[in-house]
Amino acid sequence: MQLLPMRGPAKTLPNVQSLRCKECGRDYPLEPIYVCDFCFGPLEVAYDYDAAAKNMSRESIQDGPPTIWRYDQLLPVSRENAVDIGAGMTPLLKADNLGRELGLNNLWIKNDAANPTHSFKDRVVSVAATKALEFEFDTIACASTGNLAGATAAHGAKAGMKTIVFLPADLERGKILGAAIFGSVVLVNGNYDQVNRLCSELGDDRHWAFVNINMRPYYSEGSKSLSFEIAEQLGWHAPEHIIVPVASGSLFTKVHKGLNEFAQLGIIDGADTKMHIAQPAGCSPVATAFVDGQTHPKPVIPDTIAKSLAIGSPADGFYTVSIANKTGGSATIVPEDEVVEGMTLLAETEGIFTETAGGVVISALRRLVREGAIGPDEETVALITGTGLKTLEAIADSVETKTIEPNVQSFDEIVTKAAVS
Ligand SMILES: Cc1ncc(COP(=O)(O)O)c(C=O)c1O
Ligand SMILES: [Zn+2]
Repeated sequence: MQLLPMRGPAKTLPNVQSLRCKECGRDYPLEPIYVCDFCFGPLEVAYDYDAAAKNMSRESIQDGPPTIWRYDQLLPVSRENAVDIGAGMTPLLKADNLGRELGLNNLWIKNDAANPTHSFKDRVVSVAATKALEFEFDTIACASTGNLAGATAAHGAKAGMKTIVFLPADLERGKILGAAIFGSVVLVNGNYDQVNRLCSELGDDRHWAFVNINMRPYYSEGSKSLSFEIAEQLGWHAPEHIIVPVASGSLFTKVHKGLNEFAQLGIIDGADTKMHIAQPAGCSPVATAFVDGQTHPKPVIPDTIAKSLAIGSPADGFYTVSIANKTGGSATIVPEDEVVEGMTLLAETEGIFTETAGGVVISALRRLVREGAIGPDEETVALITGTGLKTLEAIADSVETKTIEPNVQSFDEIVTKAAVS
């Protein structure tokens, strides 16, 4: 039974101007559309920054709620009547133990696994679901590599919408069941790019809010809150380096956009952050384009343990490569056998159990330090975007447990012996 919550209509703040084509700059009305009719470029939300600056200050942010909605002056829909299950304001932790291990004195972990459905996708879906209600959709849907499905289904449930999420059938069980508890899951015998294509076709004749298709311009804006928070939590400045796990590239481009917006509004003094791409070797179209000096990633067929990053045709790949170049950043192709190593290293040093995407980030960071791309005292933030509890399959063969009989002799025989051997 679908119980519709008592909720007033969502609202757009006057700072939000239009949807603007990233290629030709044409403006479009704020509707559920995502490509330019003239040049097929992607549409992005454009703001009146002078108006936003009048309404937004460090103080007004600090007086706001402890969620992404404290930044609603720079989001495409206001906090009033937001679909809010508590996304955002996740911990930014000083990682002294991991820093010591790697040779970094100023390392921070942004732990976005602490979001309600345990990934950064709660940020984007909270925005997309609120906007979907403003557009009066009654069904919310997505194509997902795993985490987006859980976030979409959870927010759809909270919004009282019908939800239907589409996933590649070979995903980890934690991702499938973690979404199915909230709503309908459809498993597709294909990879993410095939699932996404199917969803685009389904969207043509159904009036549904596909969060990462027709709602993409709005949804992606939610990721800016990650960099807003990092700047706020560091004491109102941008770090020197951010390492980002990349699939479609949306997160990467929006983390960069968020820092620039804060600088433009005078909330921070400037944003010279070097933006670093991290991808696994089994699906690295964006990192490979950067390393090869190409502008446009070539599509690949993914084959990686980091299933959340398995997007072979990355929609924002070109923009991601361009930002990494422009900011003096880099791209790391992490060998597949270093993904679990990165997960283990973070767990053993900082007590944080990340998923495979986080393993990619930590191993990329280790390589960047070894190559000298990040100096010992440079302020560095590694984005941990999801939890290891959803990707247990990845570590099943590399962690060990012991089983004993319920007596001391058995403990001494098995555990003590193992400890001394
Ligand atoms: C845990 C995690 N990190 C990073 C990403 C990359 O996101 P994007 O597609 O915005 O590059 C994803 C995408 O699903 C993800 O699930
Ligand atoms: Zn255009």
